[in-house]
Amino acid sequence: MRVLLAGATGAIGQPLIAALTGRGHQVLALARKPESHGLIRELGGEPVTADVMDRDGLLRAVRGLRADAVLHEATALKGVGRKLTADDPTNALRDRGTAHLLAAAEVVGAHRFITQSLITGYGYFDHGDKRLTEDDPFGVETGSYADPVLAGCRATEEQVFAAEIEGIALRYGLFYGPRAFSDMFADLMRKRTPVIPMGGGGFASWVHIADAVEATVAALENGRGGQAYNIVDDVPITWRQFVDAVAAAHHTPRALAMPTWLIRLTVPYLACLMSDTSMRVSAEKARRELDWTPIHRSVPAGLGVAARS
Ligand SMILES: NC(=O)c1ccc[n+]([C@@H]2O[C@H](COP(=O)([O-])OP(=O)(O)OC[C@H]3O[C@@H](n4cnc5c(N)ncnc54)[C@H](OP(=O)(O)O)[C@@H]3O)[C@@H](O)[C@H]2O)c1
Repeated sequence: MRVLLAGATGAIGQPLIAALTGRGHQVLALARKPESHGLIRELGGEPVTADVMDRDGLLRAVRGLRADAVLHEATALKGVGRKLTADDPTNALRDRGTAHLLAAAEVVGAHRFITQSLITGYGYFDHGDKRLTEDDPFGVETGSYADPVLAGCRATEEQVFAAEIEGIALRYGLFYGPRAFSDMFADLMRKRTPVIPMGGGGFASWVHIADAVEATVAALENGRGGQAYNIVDDVPITWRQFVDAVAAAHHTPRALAMPTWLIRLTVPYLACLMSDTSMRVSAEKARRELDWTPIHRSVPAGLGVAARS
């Protein structure tokens, strides 16, 4: 297939270009800066310069191009800090950005659209021991500070399901692996920055970037239009278990903890994610329908270290 990929230079985008071209697909890779063109070509993609948030510019850039599918992997999470609103770059990319990319999909003649969604769309609260599936309520606001993130996921999913295209949403678990959260946490632990709440935080479901990439290729090839798929590994772990695995793998000091009230005061989103939320998610549907199995069954296995309880 010929694929138009937004977010091509990101943590998932880069390995995705290589995986797609390795499977014989052609990749038209969107990037805002011409400086990224060399990297994209090295990975096997064909660069297209455009900003997803600039609708007219995007449509101009893709005019005359043809693609069978559009993949929306553009995010801008690095700046998430004290304030969190619907206008934050990642939320805007999920809401207005999806609308712009759907318009681009029409211009290039695509019949398939895959969008990045997130398991935290199931809600920033304690879900208990239940394994969440795609049949559980998704995108229901609860008055949490983190509601704009959840609303962004709902917005992108609703748009791709409503459009006249085979729309698929991938509800990724938390990413770890090269350039993802494990690298970020390793840096913070090296600087002795406290990174988790006292008590170890709730459970979360994770996915190694390499497995997320394989699941995305599988969804492109085998996914059913109108469906959401959870993309997670087999073993949900607490935040303490996550940072311990990262510390062992990256040879950093053990993570320092701080009280949740202090996290809430400094980076409130992280308090919602680590303390308020506890979720265990099932990827049974993706395994069944996409013909995908995560190679890395758990974070410790994916990082090549022994699990600690
Ligand atoms: N499920 C998860 O846990 C999850 C989900 C998303 C991200 N993350 C993680 O969060 C960390 C930070 O992520 P990040 O979102 O800052 O960066 P990132 O994943 O490194 O890159 C984001 C990508 O989106 C593109 N992009 C951003 N705004 C755009 C726009 N307006 N138009 C077109 N493309 C645009 C960027 O392209 P340019 O080259 O044009 O900048 C880049 O390719 C990473 O470690 C990532 O793994 C985790």
